[in-house]
Amino acid sequence: MSELNEQGNALLRLLADGEFHSGEKIGQLLGVSRTSVNNYIKGLQGIGLDIYKVPGRGYCSASKIELLDKDKIRQLCGDKNIQVEQIVESTNQILLDKIPDLVNGQTCIAEYQLAGRGRRGRTWISPFASHLYFSFYWRFDSGIDKVSGLSLLVGIATVNALEKIGIQGVSLKWPNDLYYQGKKLAGILIELNAQATAACHCVIGIGINVKMPAEQAKLIDQPWIDLHSLTAGDVDRNLLSATLITELQSLLPDYEKNGLAPYLPRWFELDCFLDKQVNLLIADKVTTGICRGINEQGALLLEIAGQIKEFVGGEISLRLAK
Ligand code: BTN
Repeated sequence: MSELNEQGNALLRLLADGEFHSGEKIGQLLGVSRTSVNNYIKGLQGIGLDIYKVPGRGYCSASKIELLDKDKIRQLCGDKNIQVEQIVESTNQILLDKIPDLVNGQTCIAEYQLAGRGRRGRTWISPFASHLYFSFYWRFDSGIDKVSGLSLLVGIATVNALEKIGIQGVSLKWPNDLYYQGKKLAGILIELNAQATAACHCVIGIGINVKMPAEQAKLIDQPWIDLHSLTAGDVDRNLLSATLITELQSLLPDYEKNGLAPYLPRWFELDCFLDKQVNLLIADKVTTGICRGINEQGALLLEIAGQIKEFVGGEISLRLAK
């Protein structure tokens, strides 16, 4: 964990209003020369902030920056176990490193991830103060068996939270993704610390695209969308975090007791591929069938030549057949 230095933070707070600020004024504020101002600007651009310069007017952030605020999140969701960091390797790793000292619901959120992790060893692009990088801890005393449908439940909780803050029309793609009209909006990465006979410690990582900076967009190799494109106003990441915490806190105890069965109707409502022809990719093998939703264990149901087959496992991915 680390932070921007004092000058970096002062510059960030100044530019957060989205207005122009002259190099001279910035230099005075930071107590540095005009050349050094440029270096500080480059530093912020380097971590993904969209800052530009207009001759005669000065420097400006492409949009207002609302930073994460631990007190605001705590106030909104009434939860005390929230850690908010500026710079981390990965919010999932922060929590994984603290097992078994965590309590259920412990949350880590960061402005920036140096090594954000996606599924299948991919990097999760994590520009500063742009998106939500959120990790939440839950312990299943009954062991690893309960975990097979967890990512689906978390997907439902995330869509519920988005709807509660006014974002409609988001769907789910088995097993871990949130989509909006064929474009990826968010991903879920659950990392476990478990032994066959003992409690299963789960770190639930959720990354949601909130407002993608133009430069970072070039690094993404699949169709994507962000919340900013789906709403008229700005998205409040503090409110989104608090709503997500409340939703997970409310659904997880019930899921632990009753499993995924009570949530199947909701999944079928949100499944973006339901009754569509899809290709299932397992390693290099492609299987084509019609998506028929999921079962109570969270397995994908695929109709192949009139028969329903079940598929489970983290290394499978699903695409719409052309
Ligand atoms: C995916 O590949 O779709 C899953 C992406 C999960 C990203 C989130 S961001 C918060 C948490 N910390 C990480 O390092 N990854 C997850």
